Amino acid sequence: GVETYEEPYRPQLHFTPESQWMNDPNGMVYYEGEYHLFYQYHPYSRQWGPMHWGHAVSEDMFAWKHLPIALAPDELGMIFSGSVVVDWEDSSGFFDGEDGLVAVYTSAKGDFQQQSIAYSVDRGRTWTKYEGNPVIPNPGKIDFRDPKVFYHDDSARWVMVLAAGQEVMFYTSEDLKTWEFASVFGAEYGAHGGVWECPDLLAFYVPGEENSKWVLQVDIGDGAAAGGSGGQYFLGNFDGKVFTADTAPEDVQWIDYGKDYYATQSFSDIPEMDGRRIWLAWMSNWQYANEVPTEPWRSAMSLPREVNVIKKENGRFQLTQLPAAEMEAYTGDIFIEKSVEIMQTTKQIICEQPSTPFKLEVSIPLDKKQPATFELFDNADAPGCEVKVNAEAGTISFDRAKMKMSSFHKDFPAVTTAPFDKSREMLKLLFVVDRSSVEIFINDGEQTMCNLILPENQSNYYISGKGSSEIHLKGEVMHSVWK
Ligand code: FRU
Repeated sequence: GVETYEEPYRPQLHFTPESQWMNDPNGMVYYEGEYHLFYQYHPYSRQWGPMHWGHAVSEDMFAWKHLPIALAPDELGMIFSGSVVVDWEDSSGFFDGEDGLVAVYTSAKGDFQQQSIAYSVDRGRTWTKYEGNPVIPNPGKIDFRDPKVFYHDDSARWVMVLAAGQEVMFYTSEDLKTWEFASVFGAEYGAHGGVWECPDLLAFYVPGEENSKWVLQVDIGDGAAAGGSGGQYFLGNFDGKVFTADTAPEDVQWIDYGKDYYATQSFSDIPEMDGRRIWLAWMSNWQYANEVPTEPWRSAMSLPREVNVIKKENGRFQLTQLPAAEMEAYTGDIFIEKSVEIMQTTKQIICEQPSTPFKLEVSIPLDKKQPATFELFDNADAPGCEVKVNAEAGTISFDRAKMKMSSFHKDFPAVTTAPFDKSREMLKLLFVVDRSSVEIFINDGEQTMCNLILPENQSNYYISGKGSSEIHLKGEVMHSVWK
């Protein structure tokens, strides 16, 4: 039961399975008042193994209720990543003229990967695999997986984007059972430090723009911004069959600059009137995911993030990501709200906060180009993580290398760096600190940096600073979503 959600490092705001191994978020969909989260799950160990789809539901994407495993391996293999859609018009014929849920996932026998479907007539509680599986047999490719499906109104077709080697492929369908190849994108575009995985494609309305902007989100297994696995995105147009990038082939735009933000997937079917795009990611990195020292579970999901596309003054478009507004309901008392002059020479203790989770907003004037350093969880005998702002260069870095527990794996101790727009008067930072992770939202989400942390002393945190700026801080405690 949830009363066990008090183990060391157990996230209080972020989703974790009760026990055992989890990786990618799958099948995220809103249906009949519930958000569904399925996830890559190995129920028999805290390491990756034969993949199942775990399942949880929520009314607000924060407080989750665990449900039984939704999909288990069968004669076609393991159940790899995929998506769920609401088949509103019963295009599949599975629902007797009503609506229902269809899951589209990869059946994987090791490197032999094909696409399959399953359906549910009882709000995702039980699933029936289609007897005609696979719906897309393997076309002779080693990596061929992670289908994300959405309904494209203009062409009146279902569209699937999936990862194939270091490209993505698009397929279309009228009934979710018969799929036709449409196009391929990516060999010449973006970062190619590793295999491409878990793509997503979504349209955004941008204020003042006539046409919507399409964002193609693609993860790479290695060579991402902070080393190891991470996500990139492409802005462009999609006509129902072909994705055309607006950016130059060599341009790389990163989703997140931390080490732990992978396999991002958006919720399908969030009500039209709401108009929001919300996604979340797996907070780990394949470099060390199998060894992160937590038990009885391993891995957490990121906060759900509301995603938007904005047009900057220089005419460039880019993503912004901020915690979904539902997080406000879990915000409690203010533990600090003041302006402080932080001194250059000595480290100054700004405040003490006995526990996480908490939320901290920091604004730093950029006019004098003065550096500023913060330590979170700084504590006399247990070094914490350090945040350094270089106003001159326009960069913010996050250092978790000094934390003693970071040494469990050679790739974990790291300094990650994100750029920010230094033409602004103020740098605005929002930290969400939740026991074993820090998500930083920079300048209203223009950049984000998500990192796992393993603080030694988990009962008393100091926030200290050093620099020569007058900074403004507001810190609020957060309530657990599991209580
Ligand atoms: C990404 C990934 C997917 C695959 C799944 C297997 O983390 O490698 O490409 O479907 O994990 O668990």
